[in-house]
Amino acid sequence: MVYNRRVWLQQSLTALAGFAISTDVAAIPTSFFAPSTGAILLNSNENPYGPSPLAQKAILEYYMQSNRYPDDYIGLLQKKIAAHWGVKAENILLGAGSSEIIGLAALHVSGKKKKIITAEPGYKVWNGQAASFGMEFERISLTNERITDLAAMLTAIDNTTAMVYICNPNNPTGTFVDINQLRNFTVEAAKKTMIFIDEAYTEYAGLESLATLAVVNPNIIVVKTFSKIYGLAGARVGYAIAHPETIQKLSNYQPWPNAAISIVSAAAAFASLNDISYVQTILTKTTEARTMCTETFKQLSLEYIPSQTNFILFNIDPIKKDMIKELKTKNIFVQSRKHFNGKWCRVSMGTIEEMQQFCAALKEIA
Ligand SMILES: Cc1ncc(COP(=O)(O)O)c(C=O)c1O
Repeated sequence: MVYNRRVWLQQSLTALAGFAISTDVAAIPTSFFAPSTGAILLNSNENPYGPSPLAQKAILEYYMQSNRYPDDYIGLLQKKIAAHWGVKAENILLGAGSSEIIGLAALHVSGKKKKIITAEPGYKVWNGQAASFGMEFERISLTNERITDLAAMLTAIDNTTAMVYICNPNNPTGTFVDINQLRNFTVEAAKKTMIFIDEAYTEYAGLESLATLAVVNPNIIVVKTFSKIYGLAGARVGYAIAHPETIQKLSNYQPWPNAAISIVSAAAAFASLNDISYVQTILTKTTEARTMCTETFKQLSLEYIPSQTNFILFNIDPIKKDMIKELKTKNIFVQSRKHFNGKWCRVSMGTIEEMQQFCAALKEIA
């Protein structure tokens, strides 16, 4: 490698900052890091503000422990999460994101029964993996109000049903069913099959968790993630809350139970639970961003589904131009799918400045 001034400067600066970054790492093109590309990423329901200040501090404090196995730290995190929800550490199973936990649950129920009941539209990223275990999906359309149809799901349960998966609030619609109705449904349906409740977005909607229900019933699994309100999507920390028997069974599918997350991620997640004011700030900013978006949709007469989460689904059929492509040329990324016999776009809430740019671009395109 040519030892030039830029490399020297980089090494001096990083040494000054107390970081021993090798020149190989420093040589990673800046485009590897999304923030420095200037891209506005509104396509994965991430938290655009990054980890909380306390999590950032923990990451810097603990990265030098990366030579150690995480045993002690994951034990502490399990206890911390358990205390947060008023349950016991034996009720918690950690995974590399909630995705890992969803996969473990699908594997766990994939015996003789092959049917998984889920909402349409719903969160599907894990469906391919479940299909590889031979699972099949019965997709229950949302109600006319575009919320999960619990009554239809209950009716659909039969002796081939291995699991019902419910995401509340639902992704991609951002709508949610009343928590008491969901509780009653869960108790009833769990008499027949495994009920899996994905609570990835409950904090945004101020919804109660069904954690206390799950810990006393082996047929209920609640899953939560640090990827959304806590801004740790890249740290990959999620967890199941369930009856100890169920936790034990799920953990049997992990090569090393609970240890898929690093010490750094565990420290960040632990610290995040202490950062209450950060969560409050994110809620305020997200509400502001949502209001800005919905005002824009109204001005443009675009149908949208009122959401209490960090994303909104809106109908793009009336837009004549290829909106997704046009947004891309402005370095703005969103998701678009066919739903309800039309074309819809799911836009995640970025920072206020990013949403100003998104709304301005949308007005120009539409
Ligand atoms: C409903 C839902 N569940 C789970 C996940 C996966 O999250 P994690 O990053 O915890 O794997 C997502 C991610 O977008 C999601 O929307």
